[in-house]
Order: sequence, then C-alpha cells, then structure tokens
Amino acid sequence: MFAHGAGRHAELAARRGKILRLDGGGEGLQRPQKIDRAACAVFHFPPSLITVSSLHSIDQGGRCAENGRRDASRYLVGRLSCKSRKGGGVVKIGIIGAGNVGTGLTRHLVPRGHSVMLSFSLDMAKLGETAAALGASVGTVAEAVSFADVVVLATPWGVTPEALAQAGNVTQKKIVWDCTNPLKPDMSGLEIGTHTSGAEEVAKLAPWATVVKAIPPFAQTLHSPSLLIGADRAAVFVCGDDGDARAVVAKLLDEIGAAPVDAGPLRLARFVEPAAMLLVQLAYKSGFGTRIGLSLLRDTAAR
Ligand SMILES: NC(=O)c1ccc[n+]([C@@H]2O[C@H](COP(=O)([O-])OP(=O)(O)OC[C@H]3O[C@@H](n4cnc5c(N)ncnc54)[C@H](OP(=O)(O)O)[C@@H]3O)[C@@H](O)[C@H]2O)c1
Repeated sequence: MFAHGAGRHAELAARRGKILRLDGGGEGLQRPQKIDRAACAVFHFPPSLITVSSLHSIDQGGRCAENGRRDASRYLVGRLSCKSRKGGGVVKIGIIGAGNVGTGLTRHLVPRGHSVMLSFSLDMAKLGETAAALGASVGTVAEAVSFADVVVLATPWGVTPEALAQAGNVTQKKIVWDCTNPLKPDMSGLEIGTHTSGAEEVAKLAPWATVVKAIPPFAQTLHSPSLLIGADRAAVFVCGDDGDARAVVAKLLDEIGAAPVDAGPLRLARFVEPAAMLLVQLAYKSGFGTRIGLSLLRDTAAR
C-alpha cells in the first residue's frame, strides 16, 4: 500500500483494501500500477485518475477550506470529493458562450447542485431568459470569470480571442475547461494544428488560466436526457499540465455521464482536437449522425 498523505480520506481508502501502488513523479502522468476500485469509489474518481498528487489533494482539500492555504485546483479536488461537508461537491461554474454546448452542459450541471453563471452573448436579454429557464444566473464575461471556480469556455473558435479579452484583468489563477475546437467555419477542417492546439493558444490568450482541454460530446447528446451512446459512456480525453485541474474537470465529466480519460499534458490537445474533428466529419458529412462518440479500449492486464 502506498498513499501519499495520511489523512482521514487516505486512511479510509487504505482500510478498504490494498489501495494503490503508484509510480511516476515529476510533471507528467503518475500511473497507477495497481488500482483498488473501492478506493476509487471513495474518491469518486475514475481509476485512471487516482494519482499520488490527487490523493494528497483529497487529503488536504477539506482542511484548506478552513485555512485557505492550498491553491484553487487542489482545494477543488478535495471539495468535489466531500459531498457531506457543508458546500462540499458544489462548484461555481462560469460559462463563456451559452450556445449549444454551454447550455447543454448547464442542463446537466445545475441538477447536480452546481452553481452556474452564463455569459457572452450578442443578446443579453435573451441570455437572461435562457439562464432563468436553466436555473443559472447571467453576467458579463468578467463577472462569470470572477464568480467561477471553473470557467467553461464554449465559444466558436473565431470569437474565442474576443471572448477571453472580455475577461479583463484577472488576478487569480482559474481552471478553464476548454470545450472549443478550432473548426473552420464551414467545418471542413481545423484552423490550427498539430504543431500547436487550440488549447495551447487559449493558454497564451489567457495567462490567468490553468487550461484543461476536454471536448464534450455533441451538443445534441448534451441536450438529451442521457449522455449514453447505446449502453456506453462516451470517452472525453482530458489534457492539461496541472493534474489537480484535470481531476476537477474529469470529476465534472464523470458526474454528467461522460467517461473522462486522463490524457496527460496540454500539448496532447494537438491530437485530441483532430480526433473530435473526425467525429464532426463522420456526424455531418458521412451520415453517422451526432449520437456517436469515442471510446478508449485498454487491456490494463497487458501493461
Ligand atoms: N456543438 C457541438 O456539438 C460541439 C461539441 C463539442 C465542442 N464544440 C465546440 O464548442 C464551441 C461552442 O460550440 P457551440 O456549438 O456551443 O457554439 P454556438 O452554439 O454557436 O454558441 C456560441 C455562443 O457564443 C455567442 N457568441 C457568438 N459570437 C459572439 C460574439 N461576437 N459576441 C458575443 N457572443 C457571441 C453566441 O451567443 P448569442 O447567440 O446569444 O449571441 C452563442 O450562443 C465551439 O468551439 C465548438 O467547436 C461544439
């Protein structure tokens, strides 16, 4: 058994079984060599996301509610895992771009208790009506960013710089869940890649952001009662250079019914974005329709 941090949560998980033996270290992925599913259940994480650092964060998360010493990502990992604590599990989510994706995510996040503020529209009166109908609030981009623990970026690629500029002078680091894909307006291909990615360009445009790339399922699926594709959850590849921020976004994806896959550093968005482009082509040009998704097959026993 190996658990970094000997707090209540780590002990609880340890008592449930032989927990985790983890390798890795340094900046990239820390790969679980052996995974105890009961421990994962305690932490409400998909097994692939239990790492030394997230265990540590979970252990510390509760305490930093009192002393505020930990950074925002670490605190959120803990809070998301502690539904019983006052305010536990509830995340303030500021959405930039309340179109198909922004409202589709809101439909699933609000019923799970999260507090959502919508922003960025050419018609703020209409946005107010949309927000009220979904149980969300409405604000400017700057207000949504200031309000949020997690900022969801769901803008058409062409207006993304304009939307981020409206955030103004952001003084605190914020997790930005980047849902965008840098599609050409006619959906014939991507504007950029693969020497860079939309996610990396977003990180340049918003130095205040801890960017996590995670392109959600099609909006048509988000606007349906269940995200299941047939009997399966659609995989969503989660990339970012901060493991705690990845864990936060993965937890939200898990809650809404997707299957987050921890894909590691942000630069892997260079390949995630084309994969999502493939889905766009299949859905709209090849006649597959939008009820399609990705899945990662993995024989963990063969590692
Ligand atoms: N659609 C999907 O299935 C899907 C799936 C995965 C990822 N994505 C990606 O997610 C992102 C958002 O896609 P979407 O389909 O949700 O887009 P969308 O429906 O066009 O929504 C974008 C929203 O941005 C607002 N907006 C656009 N231009 C604006 C401007 N100049 N000023 C202020 N507000 C403006 C619009 O608000 P108003 O109309 O109220 O003005 C609109 O509601 C894209 O990057 C896309 O590639 C889409």
